[in-house]
Amino acid sequence: MAPCFLFLITFTFTFFTTPPSVAGKQFPSEAKALVAPITKDVSTSLYTVALNTDKQFVLDLAGPLLWFPCPPEHPTVPCNSTACAAAGAFHPPRCPRIAAIDKQPCTCTAYPVNPVTTMCSSDDLTFTSVTLSSTDGKNPTTVVCVPEVVSSCAPKGLLNSLPAAAVGVAGLARSGLAVPSQLFSKLYLKKQFAICLPSSGVAPGAAFFGTEPFYFLAAPPVDVAARLTYTTLLRNPRNPAYYLEAKGLAVNREAVPFLARMLEFDSLGHGGVMISTAAPYTTLTSHIYRPFLKAFAAATKAIPRAPKVKPFGLCLNSTALGSTRVGYGVPQIDVMLAGGTNWTIFGANSLKQVDKDTACLAFVDGGPKAEQAMVIGGYQLENSFLLFDLARSRLGFLSTLLGIMTTCSNFNFTVQA
Ligand SMILES: *[C@@H]1O[C@H](CO)[C@@H](O)[C@H](O)[C@H]1NC(C)=O
Ligand SMILES: *[C@@H]1O[C@H](CO)[C@@H](O)[C@H](O)[C@H]1NC(C)=O
Ligand SMILES: *[C@@H]1O[C@H](CO)[C@@H](O)[C@H](O)[C@H]1NC(C)=O
Ligand SMILES: *[C@@H]1O[C@H](CO)[C@@H](O)[C@H](O)[C@H]1NC(C)=O
Repeated sequence: MAPCFLFLITFTFTFFTTPPSVAGKQFPSEAKALVAPITKDVSTSLYTVALNTDKQFVLDLAGPLLWFPCPPEHPTVPCNSTACAAAGAFHPPRCPRIAAIDKQPCTCTAYPVNPVTTMCSSDDLTFTSVTLSSTDGKNPTTVVCVPEVVSSCAPKGLLNSLPAAAVGVAGLARSGLAVPSQLFSKLYLKKQFAICLPSSGVAPGAAFFGTEPFYFLAAPPVDVAARLTYTTLLRNPRNPAYYLEAKGLAVNREAVPFLARMLEFDSLGHGGVMISTAAPYTTLTSHIYRPFLKAFAAATKAIPRAPKVKPFGLCLNSTALGSTRVGYGVPQIDVMLAGGTNWTIFGANSLKQVDKDTACLAFVDGGPKAEQAMVIGGYQLENSFLLFDLARSRLGFLSTLLGIMTTCSNFNFTVQA
C-alpha cells in the first residue's frame, strides 16, 4: 500500500500556491468526519468498505484488526510497544500462540482471523496508510491520507471464502487497533462511526467515521442522525464485538415464547445478541429459532407456501404477497430491547426473494450449541442505519431507511466542486 509520503509531497508542493483546504490529499487534516463507500458482494453476501480510495476490505464489525497480505518488505512493530500490547488484548480463542523467538530486537506478532471461516493465522504486526474522503455529511470533500495505521500482515490463504475483490479485512470492533479507534485518535474525531449497508451490488452504501450530520438523498434530503432511536451497547469481556441488550422477540406484536434469559451472555461470554456483518442472515440458537419459526408460520398461515430453499426453514409463494414501502406485507418482527424500544424488521429485511415466486424467511438455525443466542446478520441490516456511539456506549439505529423514502445507496458520493 502506498505510504502517505507521495501525498505529503503533493501537499508540500501545492502549499505555497493553493490553500491547504483545496490541496487535496493532506495530513494532519481538519476533517470532522470521513466517509467511505460500502459495496455488497452478491456472491458471498458480504460487504466491503473502500479504504485507500478504492481498495476493498471486508467489513467486519466484530473484528479487532485491519489485516491484509503484506509485501515481503514491510515495517514491523517492537514487542514492547503499546501497539503490540493492544494487538494482544483479544487473543482469538483456539488460535495457537507463537512463542516469542530470540529475534533481536523482538518484533510483534498479531493473530488475524478470517471472520467467515474463523480460521486464524499469526503474522507480523505492521503499519500502513489509509486513504479516505473527509465529508461535511452531504458529499465527500477532500481526500485524507492517514499514515501509520497499525495493522496486521496475513498469509494470502487467509482471504479464502472472502469476496474476490477484497484485499483484506477491516475490523471495526471496540478495540484499540480497530479502524475506528485509530481514526478517532489520529484525526481527533468524535468517537462514533456509522454503517449503512446497501441491499444490492449495484450502488454502494456508506460508512462514516466522526461527527454527524449524515445526509441521504430524498425529497428533501434527510439527516438520518436526527431520526435515530438509541439503545445500550453491551461489552462482552471475552471479545470486542458489539452486543445488544435484548429482552425478547415478537412476531406480529406477540412475544415469541422462550426464556428471555437465553438472550443474555454468561460469565464466560457465551450467548448474547451480537451484531455481525460476516453472517449473511440473522442466526438464532435452535432453542429460539424453533419457537420463532413456529410463530412466523402461524402468523402467515393464510399465505400459500413454496418449497423450502436452504438454508431457510420457511418459504412463501411471493405471488400471494402484497408489497408495501418497507417490502412485502408480512407480519413485522420486533427485537424488543432494554428500555422498551424495538428494532422492527419489516418485509424488506425479513423475507429474501430466492426465485421468481419464492420468498423465504431470512433467518437461520445456528444449532443448539451456537456461540451466540442471536447474531443479527447482514440481510437484516441492509438499508438500516447504525450509529455506534463509542463514547456513550450506545447504538443509534433506524431499522429501515425505506420507511423515510430513502436507502443506504442514497448518499451523494459526488465530490463537491
Ligand atoms: C523497548 O525495547 C528496546 C530495546 O530493548 C528499548 O530500547 C526501548 O526503550 C523499549 N521501549 C519501551 C517503550 O519500553
Ligand atoms: C415493542 O414491541 C412489542 C411487541 O411487538 C410491543 O408490545 C410494544 O408495544 C412495542 N413497543 C414500542 C415502544 O413500540
Ligand atoms: C405460486 O402460486 C402461483 C399462483 O397460484 C402458482 O402458479 C405457482 O406455481 C406457485 N409457485 C410456487 C413456487 O409454489
Ligand atoms: C450531489 O452533490 C453534487 C455536489 O454538491 C450536487 O451538484 C448534486 O446536485 C447532488 N445530487 C443530487 C441528486 O442532489
